[in-house]
Amino acid sequence: MVIKINARNLGMSKFNKNKKGMKKVLLIILGMFLVVSCVDKKTQDKPELKVKDTKKLVDGFRLLENNCFSCHNPNIAVSSKIAPSFAEIKEAYLKEKVTQTQFEEKLIKFINNPTKENSIVKGAIGKYGVMPKLSYNDNQIKAIAYYIYNMNVGTANWYKNEYQKEKENLSKHKEVLSPMQEGKALVMKTKSVLGKNLLGAIKSKGAEGALVFCSEKAVVLTDSMSVKLNAKIKRVSDKNRNPNNKATGSALEYILATKQILKDGGKPKPKLITVDGKQIKYYPIMTNKMCMQCHGKPKADIKPKTQRKIDLLYPNDKAFGYTENELRGIWIVETDK
Ligand code: HEC
Ligand code: HEC
Repeated sequence: MVIKINARNLGMSKFNKNKKGMKKVLLIILGMFLVVSCVDKKTQDKPELKVKDTKKLVDGFRLLENNCFSCHNPNIAVSSKIAPSFAEIKEAYLKEKVTQTQFEEKLIKFINNPTKENSIVKGAIGKYGVMPKLSYNDNQIKAIAYYIYNMNVGTANWYKNEYQKEKENLSKHKEVLSPMQEGKALVMKTKSVLGKNLLGAIKSKGAEGALVFCSEKAVVLTDSMSVKLNAKIKRVSDKNRNPNNKATGSALEYILATKQILKDGGKPKPKLITVDGKQIKYYPIMTNKMCMQCHGKPKADIKPKTQRKIDLLYPNDKAFGYTENELRGIWIVETDK
């Protein structure tokens, strides 16, 4: 027997202000818990009997909306899917009896290292290709896991009845972020949209076709994201492919310093500088396996067909010869202070 108690359905947010009311609800819930555990001993190994953490649900939904739905379309009725729905994913992950904590752990394992070995959804890689690596911290992934575990995200019903409400709910819960976290959120959002388009292009046209997509669309896309997100955002590199993406000044200094940190075995750190009342933030961009088909070693990683396109589009290309986990460049996010 499982009793689902949804904090928002109970209007818990109101009770939060009213301690007495809160206590009453908790007592009722405790009472229900006692009754249930006396009546049916078997339910004791079902840990889901507690009031849901509303804040965690909001955080989880926000992260999904900003970072995941670009590829994992919440509307399962769309015809051209580029990734499995979260309903499919949840079903595969919960096939065996899996607790919330175990689900969190599985999700953390996969997102930190999205490989064939870690993939649980049968046939997903064959159908969609491997998911690009996106960097999230464990707390963010836990909030996402919390939402997926407790809500029916990705089902037709959820999309019809909940999705719009969840979005409205977000605007009521403004996120409080430090300037660096704010910049990082912009980068992650842009990345998920770029990733979606790159993935779609590779899937339908192969690396050499996607390359043309990158050269035509990457700049336009980051520009349109900047407008949407009310900030300037771009990518630059010391070894740039597009001449417009050449790092100069303090950005170049930051890149060289970060390369040294990596060489000494350290962890690259983002950086904030203030110039003329503007906040300028730098975030490292690391390579992974997926990048090699266009930025790796010529011949060994980059196919001749792709190489010919690169030579044609970028006669002064310097963005090759990389291996995995190297600094490929940086994001620059510029906002008014
Ligand atoms: C750029 C597109 C893209 C974005 C953005 C994206 N994914 Fe994925 N994801 C994929 C693709 C493609 C697959 C299917 C291949 C696979 O399973 O690796 C996938 C599969 C998954 C799986 C199933 C893995 C398995 O066991 O096979 C999980 C879990 C997942 N994504 C979670 C997330 C979460 C959480 C986010 C947001 C933080 C996210 N994804 C953002 C493309 C994306
Ligand atoms: C399908 C080929 C392709 C793949 C795969 C690819 N890139 Fe690129 N990348 C390009 C092209 C083409 C450009 C130039 C885009 C432009 O003209 O603005 C570029 C530009 C960049 C830039 C901007 C600086 C520069 O050199 O102009 C960065 C940073 C970058 N890529 C990082 C990555 C990372 C990290 C990955 C893997 C996660 C990756 N790319 C995967 C083709 C690719």
